Amino acid sequence: MNEDQKLIYFVTGNIHKFNEISDLFNKENVDYILKQKPIETIEIQAESIKEVALFKLDSIRGQIDGSYFVEDAGFFIDTPLNGFPGVYSSYIMKTIGNKGILRLINDFEYSKAQFVSIIALYFKPLDKNFFFEGKIHGKVSKTIRGSGGFGFDPIFLPNIMPNKTFAELTTEEKNKISHRGQAWRNFIKFLRENNY
Ligand code: IMP
Repeated sequence: MNEDQKLIYFVTGNIHKFNEISDLFNKENVDYILKQKPIETIEIQAESIKEVALFKLDSIRGQIDGSYFVEDAGFFIDTPLNGFPGVYSSYIMKTIGNKGILRLINDFEYSKAQFVSIIALYFKPLDKNFFFEGKIHGKVSKTIRGSGGFGFDPIFLPNIMPNKTFAELTTEEKNKISHRGQAWRNFIKFLRENNY
């Protein structure tokens, strides 16, 4: 395999996501080199994150010579919002943000939330798409806390570390337990098993 075949492109304009994933990549002993490609992709409104990710992946076809992947995430407040914002997470973050979310659920004593991440990969050696998923359960904090991470991190308390929001963790701590970290580890396992 030559150097070009060993490249894998992460198509994202989100530098936080790229940093989280390259942090994980650098610690793993895999025979691939990760590069960021900030190509504009189309985010459709669909029922599931997987559909959004697949559409994005297909919209890139023909623009990159090699293997590439996108990662899509969503924040689902199962109680009391029946999964909202979910696939609308980006729009809600841009419009009402964390303050707006806290206002929406202010009257409720109890909350249940989860982050879901899907990595959708076009793997050139097999000319096929693959999907890797990760999830983390927790609840919504009563207040905005912490300065690390991005997006909904300052309001998410993971069940396995219920005293800290994601934004109060280091990138390394977050990656160990996060939705993206888990999807990523599944992805790494696949790369190890398919070391062309
Ligand atoms: P995207 O469409 O995957 O980029 O993400 C949807 C929304 O969820 C965006 O507003 C992100 O800021 C937010 N988001 C994605 N991943 C995370 C995360 O790991 N922590 C907090 N917010 C996230």
